[in-house]
Amino acid sequence: MAQTRIGILTGGGDCPGLNAVIRAVVKSATRLGWETFGINHGFEGLLEPVSCTRLDHREMGALLTAGGTVLGTTNRGRFTAKVGHGNVARVPDEILDQAKRNFILLGLRALVCVGGDGSLTIAQQLFEHGIPLVGVPKTIDNDLEATVFTFGFDSAVACATDALDRLHTTAASHNRVMVLEVMGRYAGWIAAHAGIAGGGDIILIPEIPFTYEAINRKIAEREQMGRLFTLVVVAEGARPKGGDFVTQGVQQSDREARLGGIGSQVAAEIQRRTGKETRVVVLGHLQRGGGPTCFDRLLCTRFGAKAVQLIKEEQYGYMVAHVPPDTKAVPITQAIGRLRTVPPEGDLVHTGRMLGMSFGDEE
Ligand code: F6P
Repeated sequence: MAQTRIGILTGGGDCPGLNAVIRAVVKSATRLGWETFGINHGFEGLLEPVSCTRLDHREMGALLTAGGTVLGTTNRGRFTAKVGHGNVARVPDEILDQAKRNFILLGLRALVCVGGDGSLTIAQQLFEHGIPLVGVPKTIDNDLEATVFTFGFDSAVACATDALDRLHTTAASHNRVMVLEVMGRYAGWIAAHAGIAGGGDIILIPEIPFTYEAINRKIAEREQMGRLFTLVVVAEGARPKGGDFVTQGVQQSDREARLGGIGSQVAAEIQRRTGKETRVVVLGHLQRGGGPTCFDRLLCTRFGAKAVQLIKEEQYGYMVAHVPPDTKAVPITQAIGRLRTVPPEGDLVHTGRMLGMSFGDEE
């Protein structure tokens, strides 16, 4: 009887921990006597010219801590399913057909699709097209429904918190306002977590539209207390009340909008209104680079092992999810329907407010 063979691919933007998931899948599959094929360049590797690599469990050791993905990934190409803010496009039938044909030709029993909102939306379409698969939730944005944490998020928060710690000392030395712009797309999880963990003074997130009056008030309040510097954390998707998202570069119709630039606008406006010397740092892709934190390593390992277990149990169309204290299986459709955003009245924001942090609103 032929050996069972499964495939794994990483889709969308990269993030710390992708390799750790690959390692966990390969090692768990090997213990079941299965072989694993890595599909290269995201879903694209399933299309002609097909590109895949047999993954040897003896070569997985270094992957636990390595950043990026050894399989490569892409958030554009023939499989685009997410365009613009929340719009879903249908992957053309001929592309789905071709992927299914190659899946069969490769002799795969099932596919592990590691990805965020966009990639899991594609995975769901492939599943409905007849490819047995399971999903693993990846994204630094932590904006997927049905899981409390996606992997990569904790690593991004660690990076942003470290940046805030560094900005803290230079801001205090110069009595400046320091503005840190972080990623997160339409969700403020990175900004809120790093802002609170890093002792930020003002945290601006997409879920709570801000006013410059409220920001000024907070800075003035600090000055009155003798605190002559201020740390501002701005999520790239934050926007002033009644304003729109700030985007950068030429926007392409076949992919999600590229957010960025709100940090500079906020910094310029603070300097204009308060006269205080203000500097801005855009953390950008540093948040996606490098290896995973211990938390993410563990999460990736649990996710990878659980994904293989789901395949063993033929629970296809499901995504592994972290619902503390357990790792569970949830239908992929539950994860991709809408984005999970920071509840403005939730515990996280409440914690910040209790400590006197401002979210740029009237409160
Ligand atoms: O979704 C992850 C993410 O890093 C977002 O936080 C950010 O808006 C976007 O991807 C950046 O994408 P790109 O790598 O295409 O610049």
